Amino acid sequence: MKFDEEADYVPVQIGSIPLDSILSFNLYIQKNNGYALYREKNLEFTAETKSRLIANKVDCLYIMQTDTQRYLDFIESNLSTIVSDPNTSVDFKSKAVYECASKVVFDVLQQPDVGENLVRAVGVAQNLVDFLMQGREPFFKLLTRATRDYYTYNHSVHTCTYAVVLAKKAGYSMTNRTMLDDLATGILIHDIGKSRVPEEIINKPGPLTPEEWVEIRKHPQHGLDMARNISAVRPLSYIPILQHHEKLDGSGYPNGLHDKDIHIFGKIAAIVDVFDAMTTKRSYAPAKSYFDTLKEMLTMADRHLDKKLLLEFIKLLTGR
Ligand SMILES: [Fe+2]
Repeated sequence: MKFDEEADYVPVQIGSIPLDSILSFNLYIQKNNGYALYREKNLEFTAETKSRLIANKVDCLYIMQTDTQRYLDFIESNLSTIVSDPNTSVDFKSKAVYECASKVVFDVLQQPDVGENLVRAVGVAQNLVDFLMQGREPFFKLLTRATRDYYTYNHSVHTCTYAVVLAKKAGYSMTNRTMLDDLATGILIHDIGKSRVPEEIINKPGPLTPEEWVEIRKHPQHGLDMARNISAVRPLSYIPILQHHEKLDGSGYPNGLHDKDIHIFGKIAAIVDVFDAMTTKRSYAPAKSYFDTLKEMLTMADRHLDKKLLLEFIKLLTGR
């Protein structure tokens, strides 16, 4: 779904278009070195349409480059159909889930006062859980999409992916589905409070001054204030937002909580947050390998991070 900005027409796989969905853009077909209108917007994309294309060995149609945003919005609004369709490839599902989740967090950070974006985040987080509940392949497919450059919106999707699978390993299953959805939502938006911290502090390449640290340490509380305004975000989702920088020995922030006062969702959030931050390239540090990161994280066990959960996390990354 990454498009060439220069091109007038961009390809879309026919498998990406859910059956019986109403198109919000025109679809074109390649013909005689050009593009011809194949199906007009506002019409249904039916099983018959799809079979006809397959019979003619067409697996790719085109949209106009100017319809890119409409196509991405269409994918997001049809995401639950795409994720639950057994005929859609895991590869395309992972692409759709990863990009919709990144986009929604990007929009939340760009327009922090638009509540509708947080409502979208709740929906996309549920789709992410649905996808991850389909087995191990979705998890590893999503990992292959993870970029090594640190952006808050990508980091949020990576951490959400790790957190859901770690919670599943820690015993949360479909019987705790609402709790898993709440965890996923909370992790997906755990850093939204950064939108209220000055950008020059967030992106500062060098070490922060004590005054700048004071501002940074406010982001969990800012995030909680933002989430509380939106009724679609349930209270259990507040925990990862508020507790992802707490440490077992009480040296974390914003509240300096100790082990027994940190919720398991806060402990999960802390592990996945540290792991993804260390394995991606940041403005002040290069990306570390998984092996070096986990080795370093083991030295933080029991002081900062919950050891039992950390060992489970290592097992899931090593495929055990
Ligand atoms: Fe954070």
